[in-house]
Amino acid sequence: MRVADLGSGDGRIVIALAMAGANAVGFENNPVLFVWSWIKIRRLGLNQRAKIYWRSFWRQDLSPFDAVVVFGMSHIMLRLQRKLNKELRPDALIISNVFKFPNWQPVGEVGMIKIYRIGG
Ligand SMILES: C[S@@+](CC[C@H](N)C(=O)[O-])C[C@H]1O[C@@H](n2cnc3c(N)ncnc32)[C@H](O)[C@@H]1O
Repeated sequence: MRVADLGSGDGRIVIALAMAGANAVGFENNPVLFVWSWIKIRRLGLNQRAKIYWRSFWRQDLSPFDAVVVFGMSHIMLRLQRKLNKELRPDALIISNVFKFPNWQPVGEVGMIKIYRIGG
């Protein structure tokens, strides 16, 4: 499974996903966090399954991914929903920490985490 973390921060989600067996890719625009997460991944020997790119996720085509994880901010959720709707396959999973997408109903919720599938 190919999973993207949009705004991967210190890489903890990408690392956890790779440890669970996913092919995980993080996109992070803060250079310090990018370098820090890259070092952690190398140290853990996870570089085959975990990758981080110093890039805005807005500039990334997300169509190759089976699932997307995001811990965004309320003001980006509508724009992000439009991007995901355009680029992801209908069976792709979207996991959002804290923030809801304005026009989608979650198919599952675990605490603050909401799980969506574009096709419902
Ligand atoms: C709330 S943190 C989440 C970090 C990590 N995903 C986690 O859950 O621990 C959000 C991260 O998104 C990054 N970010 C914000 N806008 C971004 C963008 N357009 N492209 C890439 N990263 C972005 C921030 O620098 C920050 O590290």
